[in-house]
Amino acid sequence: MGIKSAKLNSEIKQLLNIKFDDLDNLDLLEEDSEGHLFLDPEEITSPQEKQTFYQCLQDIPKGKEGFEHLQESQKAKAIDGKLENCTNGAPDGPPLHDALEQIGVKDRTSSYKKGVQDVYDAALSQIEQLFLELIRGNRVKYSRIQEITDPFTKNFMTDQAIIQNLSVFYSIEHDYLPNHFLRNFLLAINIGSSSGYSLPQVKQMGEAALLADIGMIMINGDIRIKKDALTQEDEWELKKHPIIGLYALERLNGIPDEIVFVAYQHHERLTGDGYPKGNQSRVIHPYAQIVAIADIFDALCNERAYRGSYNPSESLKSILKMAVSGHLDKTYVHNLIKYLSAFPVGSLVLLNDNRMAKVIQSNAGSPLKPLISVLTDKKEQTLSEKKIFQIDCSQEEDIYIERPLNIRAGKNEVMIGF
Ligand SMILES: [Fe+2]
Repeated sequence: MGIKSAKLNSEIKQLLNIKFDDLDNLDLLEEDSEGHLFLDPEEITSPQEKQTFYQCLQDIPKGKEGFEHLQESQKAKAIDGKLENCTNGAPDGPPLHDALEQIGVKDRTSSYKKGVQDVYDAALSQIEQLFLELIRGNRVKYSRIQEITDPFTKNFMTDQAIIQNLSVFYSIEHDYLPNHFLRNFLLAINIGSSSGYSLPQVKQMGEAALLADIGMIMINGDIRIKKDALTQEDEWELKKHPIIGLYALERLNGIPDEIVFVAYQHHERLTGDGYPKGNQSRVIHPYAQIVAIADIFDALCNERAYRGSYNPSESLKSILKMAVSGHLDKTYVHNLIKYLSAFPVGSLVLLNDNRMAKVIQSNAGSPLKPLISVLTDKKEQTLSEKKIFQIDCSQEEDIYIERPLNIRAGKNEVMIGF
């Protein structure tokens, strides 16, 4: 049995915009025939359990008081204790990047490219469905996360560039949050792999990145989509999400500690001016440091209700500044740039001869000179798909990238050039 996507979308929108004060009156909390989609005994949640879940959330005070309440909560203290004793987080096992292969443009058939894009679309729907389950207070098996991430990791092994391409894509058919969750995951596996982590570690880092902002689904939707500048009170509400997300993560049966650490710490900064613990946070798990970089990069690349977007190159520059100022780890930031190049894979650029091109692969050691696909002629006329051709900028003296373009490929163009 499947949920009709239109119904699912409207339910999700409704659920994401609720205030927890209104939960008592929310009809959707009642089980209906479609509420029994997941019959696995591990995912059956008793009404009492759900009641406790909502009660806990309702008991959190508003604004700064609520933030401080969460900061001092047993939940937060328990994780602080685990982090103090955590010894893992360094690369362990054969580095994944040694096992990666990279196929070329000629090897990618149109059905292959469509297949990858379909996986992306399906993943967004799976993430939305997961939101729905978690916000309803249901228990969900952790393996559901791996069902979303595994197909991408598999693709990543043979075609890193196409995964990088998707990490700067935005599907306008879905809301910001599911897109953001998915791209965080795609960016994190790239940084993790460039940083010498093994396959199981990169997988876990990616799963952590996918779930890092889960607390955002439990923040009042009015604040998340607000068009005006955020008030101080709004900012306190948003700052609750790393801890409030733990309530949702507890519903994921079998979740590893590392995933919890990342959700809890992805806004901590090495300078001690992050949250929720700030300078009291003595240990920031390496996975949380990596996911923080993915999270900031993606947030900058995308328009938010209260500000415009930056193109991927500008976003990289901002991240670099944060590394120089000591907020982010320099090595991880370097690894992000190493794989994405200064002009990230998937982004559109203008060449010095006025042609438009898409970056399709980075060149290790030449961040300014990636492999590109030329998409227009010098008079800005679009080339037919058959006439699109590749240039390796590191091999050309006369052709170079003049500047990045503030244009983003839409759904029909995302695979063009690849
Ligand atoms: Fe966040």
